[in-house]
Formats: sequence, structure tokens, C-alpha cells
Amino acid sequence: MFSVRLIFLILCIFFNGSLSKLERLDHPVTKSDGSLNILVVGDWGRQGGFNQSLVAHQMGIVGEQLDIDFVISVGDNFYDDGLKGDTDPAFEASFSHIYTHPSLQKQWYSVLGNHDYRGNVSAQLSHVLTQKDWRWFCRRSFVLCSGMVEFFFVDTNPFVEKYFTDPEDHTYDWSNVLPRDKYISNLLYDLDLEMKKSRATWKFVVGHHGIKTAGQHGVTQELVDQLLPILEENKVDLYINGHDHCLQHIGSDR
Ligand SMILES: *[C@@H]1O[C@H](CO)[C@@H](O)[C@H](O)[C@H]1NC(C)=O
Ligand SMILES: *[C@@H]1O[C@H](CO)[C@@H](O)[C@H](O)[C@H]1NC(C)=O
Repeated sequence: MFSVRLIFLILCIFFNGSLSKLERLDHPVTKSDGSLNILVVGDWGRQGGFNQSLVAHQMGIVGEQLDIDFVISVGDNFYDDGLKGDTDPAFEASFSHIYTHPSLQKQWYSVLGNHDYRGNVSAQLSHVLTQKDWRWFCRRSFVLCSGMVEFFFVDTNPFVEKYFTDPEDHTYDWSNVLPRDKYISNLLYDLDLEMKKSRATWKFVVGHHGIKTAGQHGVTQELVDQLLPILEENKVDLYINGHDHCLQHIGSDR
């Protein structure tokens, strides 16, 4: 009787402890040496304006030279206020009709930025967009395994206090995010769990907002306080973000 109860208890702990709600995907490596070449772009959806088309053209050239495996988008996919719905023509005008180079006809893995949250979030996450353009894959948070690398995509938007306390004249689509504290604690729990399970040689984290940055928005203190300790504890090798519209390479001694 005792041993049966003990086994039951152990099973419960095992199942509870190994359950994470994060979607997991696999992107098989195709190069024979196991290497992975990717492009990362963020803060882009301008219907070709603000030099988006010029950047897309250069991405096409570099994408061909590198024979890229996939593209990562770090959010702010559609300016100024995300998508209005899954039939919003901005999807084609800012994505399908812009990234037309053959080398960019690869899977895109995207997270959301603050500008995306000012529109209809469920539209941007909708499978309808993937039916329109097979390259599109966007989620709030998910895990992607590709050969030696495991990528952890994190929705950093709900961490930023001022979007809730001082939204200025913007309206954010917080449906499925509230209550905020629960959303954040569940996300951090799941991330920690997935990272502890990971046996990948390299662990990369992708988010929209910078943690430490010398850019115009400055350090995101909420991420320094809440996300960074989990990345450090799990020996994450690299954090990739957008939001600041500039190129920075920030390292640490540890
Ligand atoms: C596009 O880039 C050029 C320089 O290459 C710059 O002069 C121009 O202001 C940019 N356009 C916009 C709308 O930012
Ligand atoms: C958001 O987009 C979805 C999918 O297109 C649509 O069903 C929904 O009505 C939209 N919500 C609003 C508030 O427009």
C-alpha cells in the first residue's frame, strides 16, 4: 500500500514537473556539416517604406550567399498598430510582397512587438495568415529545436510595466494575457522548465525588447529583474532582440 502510494506520488511529481504549455517545433538541419545559417530581422512592416524594401533586397542577397535555413523576426512586424484582422492587406503589403527574393522563401519564425500588441493579436497569430503565405509562423512564446541549437522565443511585451500604467494614447490588445502576473509567472516557469530539459549545445533566447541595451529605449528593468536570472541560471548563450532599431553586440564576462 505504502509503495503504491509512493509510486503514485512520484508519478504525479514527474508529470506535473515535466508539463510545460510551450509549443515545441523542430526545424531539421539540412546542411551535411550540421551548421545553421539564419537571418534575424525586426521592426520592419512598413509596406515597403522607411527603406524596408531596400533592406529586404539586401537580405535576399545575403540570404542567397549564406544559403539560409530560416528567418527569425523579433517583432514589430506591422507598423504602426499591428494587423486589424486576418484579412488586413498590410500582411501582403508588408510581408509577402516585400520579401520576394528566392533565398527568403524559407520558414519565418516570429514573435510579437509592442506595435503588434496595439492591433489585433489573435489575427497575427492566426493560421489564416499561414494559409495565405506558408512562411508565416508567429506565436507569443514557443521553443524551436534546430540541430545543435535550441531557440526559446519569449513574449516580452507583458513584462513592460508602462504599457499597462501609462499607455499614452495607445490601446493594447491584452486579451489572453490578463491577469498579467499569472501570465508572466506561467511563462517564466515554462521557460525555466524547457531550458532545464534542454540538452542542446547552444541555447538562444529571442524576444522583442532589449534586456541590457545602449539604445534609445534603455535597459528594460523588468527583464533584468525577472527574465535575466533565468537565462543566467540556465547558461543561455545568446539573447537576440529588436525594439531599438540599431545594431549592438553586448557581451558579458561570465
Ligand atoms: C532611406 O535611406 C536613405 C539613405 O540610404 C535616407 O536618406 C532616407 O531618409 C531613408 N528613407 C526613409 C523614409 O527613412
Ligand atoms: C481580430 O481578428 C480576428 C481574426 O481576423 C477576428 O475574428 C476578430 O473579429 C478581430 N477582432 C477585432 C476586435 O476586430
